[in-house]
Amino acid sequence: MLDVEGLESAYGDSRILFGIDLAVAAGEVVTLLGRNGMGKTTTVKSIFGLLKPRGGRVRIDGEDVTGRPPHVVAKRGLGLVPEGRQIFPTLSVEENLVATCRASRAGAPKWTLDSVYRLFPRLKERRRNMGNQLSGGEQQMLAIGRALMTNPRLVVLDEATEGLAPLIREEIWTCLAAIKDAGEAILVIDKNVDALARFADRHVVIEKGRVAWSGTSDELRATPEIKDRFLHV
Ligand SMILES: Nc1ncnc2c1ncn2[C@@H]1O[C@H](COP(=O)(O)OP(=O)(O)OP(=O)(O)O)[C@@H](O)[C@H]1O
Ligand SMILES: [Mg+2]
Repeated sequence: MLDVEGLESAYGDSRILFGIDLAVAAGEVVTLLGRNGMGKTTTVKSIFGLLKPRGGRVRIDGEDVTGRPPHVVAKRGLGLVPEGRQIFPTLSVEENLVATCRASRAGAPKWTLDSVYRLFPRLKERRRNMGNQLSGGEQQMLAIGRALMTNPRLVVLDEATEGLAPLIREEIWTCLAAIKDAGEAILVIDKNVDALARFADRHVVIEKGRVAWSGTSDELRATPEIKDRFLHV
């Protein structure tokens, strides 16, 4: 459903992306891997129209949305869990969730307060707490829940478990697997390659703004040197 072709982006005079190709089919989980500063967040920003690409194409279900504003991209079915989570600190958990809710395109919405609370019981317990009273893990659950409330067909997570304790990280992986089982496609950025390989279908490794390797989880496991070459610091 998402098709990125030859994406080029820059901040002012500094070119960052030199032709990224990336596709996510309906219901598929794809990872975007690469060391710090290689252009993962820039790719996400360029897809969502938060940064206007200098070249290449972003298509959703065949429709060209290159450089269209974020609300247009969201309306076509993409939901973003941004780097740094960016939840509203002075709104309650429940207010954060309903602030972005939108009915799905056809029929009753799949993701509602109830179904998000079923996925994250902790958010229900904390529903009257303010955003700034939450732990890092709870904030990430809220950021994921908030993206789901837009009833997207593809959820994009920039740093799914960055800075979270191992147990909380496991909870996030379990939830992402449940979101996949619910039929959503996922594009996920994270450094925990082994955890990602358990539930992702395909992986795209970027190095200095170019795709350095891509393949399935089986291929990634069979090629351990990929991790040494492109992912370890
Ligand atoms: N707003 C900006 N202005 C100028 N340069 C930027 C800006 N944001 C990022 N960069 C530069 O662009 C390059 C790619 O950054 P990007 O944030 O896309 O990397 P990343 O792969 O997401 O890294 P990380 O794993 O640290 O999140 C880096 O060299 C970074 O310094
Ligand atoms: Mg980043």
